[in-house]
Amino acid sequence: MSIKPLIILPDPVLRQVSRPVERVDDEVRKLADDMLETMYDAPGIGLAAIQVGVPLRMLVIDLSKEDEPKAPQLFINPEIVSSSEARGVYEEGCLSIPDYYAEVERPAEVVVSYVDREGKKREARAEGLLATCLQHEIDHLDGVLFIDHISRLKRDMVVRKFKKLAKDRQPARMVG
Ligand code: NI
Repeated sequence: MSIKPLIILPDPVLRQVSRPVERVDDEVRKLADDMLETMYDAPGIGLAAIQVGVPLRMLVIDLSKEDEPKAPQLFINPEIVSSSEARGVYEEGCLSIPDYYAEVERPAEVVVSYVDREGKKREARAEGLLATCLQHEIDHLDGVLFIDHISRLKRDMVVRKFKKLAKDRQPARMVG
């Protein structure tokens, strides 16, 4: 297993639409393990493959608390089958947008179909934090970020800040 570098806003890779996983093989399982290790290292509670630069429709989630045993979950080719009328609000963050948090309103409950680690088709009903997390990560697979769900004014401010940070990270060029 290895920790992979995270793709950070405003990298255009984050706006790519990921393609479905065609076959769940050892390579896919290794990527899932790397994603989990990267997520635990960050630390975060969810990670989509595109956030480590791989445009495949898969994501990992672990909502266990610090003092609880790890509970990794892998969702391959996840799709929202249905979502509730009732909405819920959570303060969201994203490993690709470090240290920025904002409240986002989404359906409170969703049913998601997906393929598991063994290549088996499954369905899961989720509510609360898991429902939010699944929707946030599935958005990533379509190039959508949680800041797309907040006001344009706030979003523009965040994007501007991260553009500036990215520019500052570039090595200074010698002149003359
Ligand atoms: Ni995210």
